Amino acid sequence: MDKFVVVGGKRLYGSVDISGAKNAALAIIPATLLAAGKCRIDNIPDIRDVRLMFNILRNLGAEIKMLNPNSFEIDTSAIRSQVVPDAMAKKMRASYYFIGALLGRSGNAEVAMPGGCNFGVRPIDQHIKGFEALGAHVRTENAVIKASSAELLGGSIYFDVVSVGATMNVMLAAVRAKGLTIIENAAKEPHIVDLANFLNLMGADVRGAGTDTIKIRGVETMHGCDYSIIPDQIEAGTYMVAAAAAGGDVAIRNVIPKHLESISAKLVECGATVEEFADSVRVAADGRLTKCNVKTMPHPGFPTDMQPQFAALLAICEGTSIVSESIWDNRFRYVEQLLRMGASIQVEGKAAIIEGVPYLKGAPVRADDLRAGAAMIIAGLAARGATEIEDIHLIERGYENILGKLTALGADIRRVEMPDEESAKEDKKAI
Ligand code: UD1
Repeated sequence: MDKFVVVGGKRLYGSVDISGAKNAALAIIPATLLAAGKCRIDNIPDIRDVRLMFNILRNLGAEIKMLNPNSFEIDTSAIRSQVVPDAMAKKMRASYYFIGALLGRSGNAEVAMPGGCNFGVRPIDQHIKGFEALGAHVRTENAVIKASSAELLGGSIYFDVVSVGATMNVMLAAVRAKGLTIIENAAKEPHIVDLANFLNLMGADVRGAGTDTIKIRGVETMHGCDYSIIPDQIEAGTYMVAAAAAGGDVAIRNVIPKHLESISAKLVECGATVEEFADSVRVAADGRLTKCNVKTMPHPGFPTDMQPQFAALLAICEGTSIVSESIWDNRFRYVEQLLRMGASIQVEGKAAIIEGVPYLKGAPVRADDLRAGAAMIIAGLAARGATEIEDIHLIERGYENILGKLTALGADIRRVEMPDEESAKEDKKAI
């Protein structure tokens, strides 16, 4: 397994271009199953999770042509299967979108239980409740979710929890259900609006995405279209926080500043300078910033997917900060790694009490999951000495060219191949 080695103490200067939104792409790629015709999708992030999604789609019979590393033409007209096997589904959470998309397309889906980052229990009861409200029969057999329906019918769904995944999954099925579907207590994240825009461009009738009530009038057919995915809110936020933690002056380009407001507001509270422009934000910081409290909430609140990165910054801010996690049960596993770097953090249930220390010290750490890994990079950029990060494949699930982008900003970060893998490769060559 390769490692990242980050030598801290380099300030970040220049500009970074943000890629397309991972969590929008992961719903939009399966949504192409609903089209009779080809879809051209631009601004797809070049990340592992997208490649896994393409593998699933290809396995179902889709043809996928790369036009450039971020643009693809997808033709799902020759789909021959409705089955997503365990080996593929378990590699990522978003494989559950194939249930909604296949149900919408053909009334049948068999998708093995999804995997993904481990933040504690991740039920899908709200997804199932939604499909059942559309008249689908859903059962789980040997860890495979089997959903079927002779004819999907519009229905009313009130989600008991605000769920990004359940909202998008039910949208995927409901666009082809007969009649009107009303989703209440819907999630409002930017990627929900992006999926709705994509579906509408394919001929669907989705209204209200971005509010807590979404109304969908089912259509009989949908067609191919050209679409460009929105910029990634969390990737942008990660570079914003990296600039604040390492110090410097960075322009984060190709973003929608409105999507970043909750992150910008917290950075300003800590004492960083944040300037908004039409499609970029500038973050500048000089010296040690000060504490602030953060509570994760569904959009437009502070995103849970920025919680570990922000905690890494707060670990070196002056004063005591409290970070409260209200979405996931177990999203503080990374704290153990920050403690190895000299942070002073106490976790009490779903809150972390962070007493800022003047500096962190480089240490060997691991990426517990995608965003925890990003937090380790941020901690490493700000630390004294070298931080070695293991399990970087988890970081590469969701950040396009993070090494290249940070290096261009002046960071000292490199990939190191571990000797055991080297020798394994040599062995393979010998065979
Ligand atoms: C998505 C993101 C993830 C992010 C999360 C919240 C993707 C691929 N992943 O995950 O990075 O952290 O949104 O912004 O887009 N819940 C239930 N029952 C359900 C579904 C969810 O109880 O059927 C609960 C979850 O346990 C959690 C909360 O609802 O406590 C929010 O989960 P949800 O928004 O569904 O997260 P994901 O879509 O899985």
